Amino acid sequence: MAYEFKIERTASPKAKESLQGSVFGTRFTDHMFILDYDKGQGWHDGRIVPYQPIMLDPAAKVFHYGQTIFEGLKAYLTADGRVLLFRPRSNIKRMNLSNIRMSIPTLDEELFLEALRQLLVVERDWVPSEEGTSLYVRPFVIATQATLGVSPSHQYKFMIILSPVGAYYSEGVNPVSIYVESGYVRAVPGGVGEAKTAGNYAAGLQAQEEATAKGYSQVLWLDGVERKYIEEVGSMNVFFVIGDKVVTPVLNGSILHGITRDSVLQMLKHWGYEVEERQLSMQEVADAHRSGELKEAFGTGTAAVISPIGELYWQEKAMTLNGGRTGELSQRLYDELTGLQRGEKEDPFGWTVEL
Ligand code: COI
Repeated sequence: MAYEFKIERTASPKAKESLQGSVFGTRFTDHMFILDYDKGQGWHDGRIVPYQPIMLDPAAKVFHYGQTIFEGLKAYLTADGRVLLFRPRSNIKRMNLSNIRMSIPTLDEELFLEALRQLLVVERDWVPSEEGTSLYVRPFVIATQATLGVSPSHQYKFMIILSPVGAYYSEGVNPVSIYVESGYVRAVPGGVGEAKTAGNYAAGLQAQEEATAKGYSQVLWLDGVERKYIEEVGSMNVFFVIGDKVVTPVLNGSILHGITRDSVLQMLKHWGYEVEERQLSMQEVADAHRSGELKEAFGTGTAAVISPIGELYWQEKAMTLNGGRTGELSQRLYDELTGLQRGEKEDPFGWTVEL
């Protein structure tokens, strides 16, 4: 099916400034995509309009009951001027899993891809070219029906906004320090931990603020039952190099299905690394640190890319990893992944999609 969306162009395009020193997600392009949903009618009236505030009834369910989901992916500009998207089909698949978990109607995969394609054609000049930058794509759905009963909304908006970005962390690609949270929990089995829904992030803010006040840039979450097993970091999945193996927590229902996580797993296997997806306790990591077996650790995420971990703080003790420096494997993964995403390195996996 061919999708035709109405396009209303802005009369006042914004100036495109250098992203040097910019804060992640603070700048937005000139246009955005909107699609409405009404029960009985389905998704309808897709359109590209100037970037602007939206008007919602104060009773819209998203404000009261948090019925909302989001995604994140990136578009890159190659040296020869092509725009590449990284694994966009994985995003729509994951988005529909989140939709189902939050009782939101799913979106047709081709409609999603066509909306993204047409918006990016309009905003092509916004894909930045500076080293370490990309155009971050944020698709999301909100429940808009104005009623206070607790039940799935009959109306929604699906939108895509675009933000030219540099590094997610102020550390750039330098190692981050992480506070292992033993009090608060992020998600529990049977909950919504693996859905990309706003509440998971809001629920982490108090711990995040407390960790920031102690000088840590992120929180590492432990399982919600025993507070023993490693789950994920606030905005990324997490990997540990223990001896000659690379270990990451197995997806157990409360961990986000990271697309960068999956890409890293596939790359490591392709390079011949022994990789384990399994339950991993914080005690095992601390023991491996004590015995010298813990070589390095890093986080993975669309926004964070590959983010080396320089320090872990757990049970009143700080562990410095790899002398606080970026590990060899973290650096190789960062170089290979970003090289592939920018079309500078071979893509044996067929992950990049040209606009
Ligand atoms: C992403 O990496 O795209 C995310 O959605 C994480 C976000 C909290 C910045």
